[in-house]
Amino acid sequence: MSEPPPASDETAPFGFRDVPAGEKQRLVGGIFSSVARRYDLMNDVMSLGVHRLWKDAFVDWLAPRPGLTYVDVAGGTGDIAFRIRDRVMRRGAAAIHVVDINAEMLQVGRSRESEAALTHPITWTCGNAERLALPDGFADAYTIAFGIRNVTHLAAALSEAYRVLKPGGRFLCLEFSRCDVPVLDSLYDAWSFHAIPALGARIGGDGEAYRYLVESIRRFPDQETFATLIGEAGFGQVRVRNLTGGIAAMHSAWKI
Ligand SMILES: C[S@@+](CC[C@H](N)C(=O)[O-])C[C@H]1O[C@@H](n2cnc3c(N)ncnc32)[C@H](O)[C@@H]1O
Repeated sequence: MSEPPPASDETAPFGFRDVPAGEKQRLVGGIFSSVARRYDLMNDVMSLGVHRLWKDAFVDWLAPRPGLTYVDVAGGTGDIAFRIRDRVMRRGAAAIHVVDINAEMLQVGRSRESEAALTHPITWTCGNAERLALPDGFADAYTIAFGIRNVTHLAAALSEAYRVLKPGGRFLCLEFSRCDVPVLDSLYDAWSFHAIPALGARIGGDGEAYRYLVESIRRFPDQETFATLIGEAGFGQVRVRNLTGGIAAMHSAWKI
């Protein structure tokens, strides 16, 4: 009789804790199921509305064009997909796909669809960034906003991004990063570790979920380290743009 395979001792960061890697996806799923209904409201409250400016800057840099295929991974309630559609609609149509692991986040996104859905539909699919159910060379652009720090295996998600892009396709990521502006960094710390969990408990209904979100930001690689990981996944021309002193950063790269 063969022995059962040994239990893996691989771990993954979950906030400030390390958890068995096989557990992380379920724990992250619980967080977003808990916050889904109030996610959009809480984004405005936690960032004082600034996340809207960051997402606008992100889609500005993407410069969407009609006739192309866009995949927004960890797309949640659709903030990036709606912005891409709004930019393209005036000049034509694009194929826009939102993929997210959490059905409740996607459901909130679908419920935000406007009349534009009749003429410019968005495709909403439940799926894991680490194993996308999309063919090789499917997309002209792959976007991921505030999603990649939640995946269990960063390298697997980056390699999937590379796989589903066409040669010459664009990778664009928006994520929290390292703020290196004196005074702003201390204010940001105080806001993150005191105000956000308290607001999360009062408005979002789950302080612990918001504590995870803040902690997960601090465990995510800084701008330079993340740029190196993107290069290691095979991408070229990796560029970084900081937003609000590096509180958030955008990484752009191309499949070569
Ligand atoms: C902070 S939200 C960002 C949502 C949206 N992109 C935005 O900017 O508002 C993070 C999203 O990542 C999703 N997510 C977490 N792990 C994932 C994975 N492995 N694959 C796909 N989506 C994932 C969550 O379900 C959640 O909707």
